[in-house]
Order: sequence, then C-alpha cells, then structure tokens
Amino acid sequence: MGALRTIHRYWALLLALAVLVQIGSAGYGAFNAADKSDPGPLSEHQFSKGFDFHDGFGYLIFIGTLVLLLLALGARLGGRRVGMSVALVLLLVVQILLAWGGEGHAWIGIFHSIVAFLILGYLGTESTTVWGQFGFDAFFLDTKDRATWLARLCTVVYFLFFILMPWYTARDEVKPVPERVTH
Ligand code: HEM
Repeated sequence: MGALRTIHRYWALLLALAVLVQIGSAGYGAFNAADKSDPGPLSEHQFSKGFDFHDGFGYLIFIGTLVLLLLALGARLGGRRVGMSVALVLLLVVQILLAWGGEGHAWIGIFHSIVAFLILGYLGTESTTVWGQFGFDAFFLDTKDRATWLARLCTVVYFLFFILMPWYTARDEVKPVPERVTH
C-alpha cells in the first residue's frame, strides 16, 4: 500500500506537468492559427493541425485522472482524497464537453480555458505532497513541509537574479560586432 501511495503522489505530479503542457499546446494552436492566417485564408486543415497534439493529449489526461482515482482507491487514501479524485475526473468530463460545445459556440470556449486552471490548481496543490516532510526537528523549521522550503528557495533565487544584476552584467563580456552588421 505504501508503494501505491508513492506512485499516486508522483502520478499527480506528472499529471500537473501534463496539464501545463496541455495549456501550452493550446497557446501553440492559437499562435499557429494567427501565423497561418496572416496572410490568409486559414484553412480548416491548417487550423486543426496546430491543435492535433492538444486534442489527443486532452483525452490522455482524462485517462490519466481515471488512473489517479484507481491509485487513490488502491492506496486507500480515505474518503476526502478519493472524493477529490472523483471530482477531478468529473471536471475532465466537463472540460471535454466544453471543448465539444466550444467548437460550435465560441463563448463556451471561455469556460474551457477557465476550467483548465481549476484542474491545474487542484493537481498543483495535490502534487506538492510529493515532496513530503523533513524527518528532523530544527529551530528554524516553522514548517516541515519540503515543498514550502523549495518555494522559498526559488523565491530567493528569483529576487537574487534582479538584485545581483548590476554585479553580474558588469562582468559580462561583450563580443565585437561582426563585420556583416552595418549601421
Ligand atoms: C486541462 C486542460 C485542458 C484539457 C484537458 C483540454 C482538453 C481538450 C480536448 C480533449 C479537446 C478536443 C475536443 C474534441 O475532440 O473536439 C480540446 C479542444 C480545444 N481546446 Fe482544450 N483542453 C485544455 C485546456 C485548454 C486551454 C487552456 C485552451 C485555450 C486557452 C484550450 C483550447 C482548446 C481549443 C480552441 C480546442 C478546439 C481545437 C479544435 O477545434 O481542434 N484548451 N481541448
């Protein structure tokens, strides 16, 4: 059962990443359409080609959430977790129905994009449990949650990028302008 729990955690993380890829692929489809329509006309075939990956991968994510539910059941994660997994599967069903509806009525597409973020939000928080807890006690550990500490570390690195910018750009070496570049 312990092994199933571990698989469940990593599966949730994998699904969260897959949803990120899925949102990214919708962006690809949109920009592909923008690119191919200028100059137009944009054919149905060209449009669909840009969304081929998105359409197929969406159904895979749906199957992925069914697997997550089975893992939650198998690992006996309790009523709340299993309930949330059922809700996630239903959210994916809604998402697919919205995609079908959106193809005939563009306004339904608004909800297809918003539901994507509900799915990402749930999977994003669920998968932080992958990191688990520190196994030791220390005075500076206000929380033992590894994910929180990782987030703090990333925040520090993010701000150091700006704070240290004057320092590291001063050390940046600039290559001479190539001859082919004319001013
Ligand atoms: C959890 C995230 C998402 C999932 C699981 C998902 C799933 C799907 C699926 C299964 C389809 C194909 C429906 C069919 O067979 O006709 C589809 C189509 C589509 N999705 Fe998503 N989607 C997600 C996020 C998004 C986002 C964020 C956008 C845009 C902002 C988007 C835009 C579209 C569009 C425009 C289509 C229609 C493409 C076409 O006509 O071929 N999707 N989506």
